Amino acid sequence: PLVNTKKMFEMAYKNGYAIGAFNVNNMEITQGIVQAIAEEKAPLILQISRGAREYAKNSYLKAIIDVVVKENPDIPVAINLDHGDTFETCKEFVDDGFTSIMIDGSHLPFEENIAITKKVVEYAHPRGVVVEAELGQLGGIEEDVVGVDDVSKHIADPDQAVEFVEKSGCDSLAIACGTSHGAYKFKTAPTLAFDVIEEIGRRLPGFPLVMHGSSSVLKEFKDLINKYGGKMPDAMGVPEEMVTRASKMAMCKVNIDTDLRMALTAKIRQVFAEKPAEFDPRKYLGPGRDAIRDMVRHKLHVLGCAGKA
Ligand code: G3H
Ligand code: 13P
Ligand code: NA
Ligand code: ZN
Repeated sequence: PLVNTKKMFEMAYKNGYAIGAFNVNNMEITQGIVQAIAEEKAPLILQISRGAREYAKNSYLKAIIDVVVKENPDIPVAINLDHGDTFETCKEFVDDGFTSIMIDGSHLPFEENIAITKKVVEYAHPRGVVVEAELGQLGGIEEDVVGVDDVSKHIADPDQAVEFVEKSGCDSLAIACGTSHGAYKFKTAPTLAFDVIEEIGRRLPGFPLVMHGSSSVLKEFKDLINKYGGKMPDAMGVPEEMVTRASKMAMCKVNIDTDLRMALTAKIRQVFAEKPAEFDPRKYLGPGRDAIRDMVRHKLHVLGCAGKA
């Protein structure tokens, strides 16, 4: 059924796992994810960014997600607006039937971030919709990718996190903890601020945290991309052991997009290289979809949410 994330997060928090929140942009990506979820019996969060909405039109994506919900009656499915920017966008998505809304005011001054989050909460809550907010700054979402040194300077502050949650009334909080969006998260050895995750977790007992930028940049796909004409030699993600460690802590939602993109791209490149005469989209999108399915199945075990639907 279509649900908000309240119950999902309660279970995840209590039992020390996290739920995968996967970004979708088209039918094949969505189908690959959902096949994995159905096979592994895991709860599901599908999310749509503003970019996704511009690319595929929200109406199309929403129609695809409606089919997902209808065809998987035993799976709890939440749909989240990823990185909502304004109150108006958030309102539009609440009105459109999304069950979860992220308002990303992380670039705003602290008090303004609280104020815009509170405004979204006041609109969403009476309509049964939950709100995710963000504190601290991740790299990669603005055009100029923030370097590692800069990222570590923008780690969420525990005192602010407590105040933010109290004052804004948000249901979950994405905290900058050393990750960034995209395929180039670290220049040297990956590190996450587990001490900060731990402290915020301790100061906000029972409160679900969210980790953005959680893709691992899997070697299998990076290698295929580089082998078949792609150019991502320096790509680096969050090692899976670290994702598992965070999932066992207060992190209850783990956002993954880059790993989906890389799986699809790797397989398409492989088909193009190995079968240059092929021009039927089903013959390359199909293997891409299968690769997403297998990758997501594996991911659900990394997060610990397999079998938890
Ligand atoms: O937050 C970043 C997600 O990977 C979505 O990316 O805005 O390019 O769709 P996008
Ligand atoms: P990745 O780029 O690591 O997949 O992160 C996605 C994300 O945080 C979407 O909000
Ligand atoms: Na967790
Ligand atoms: Zn994000």
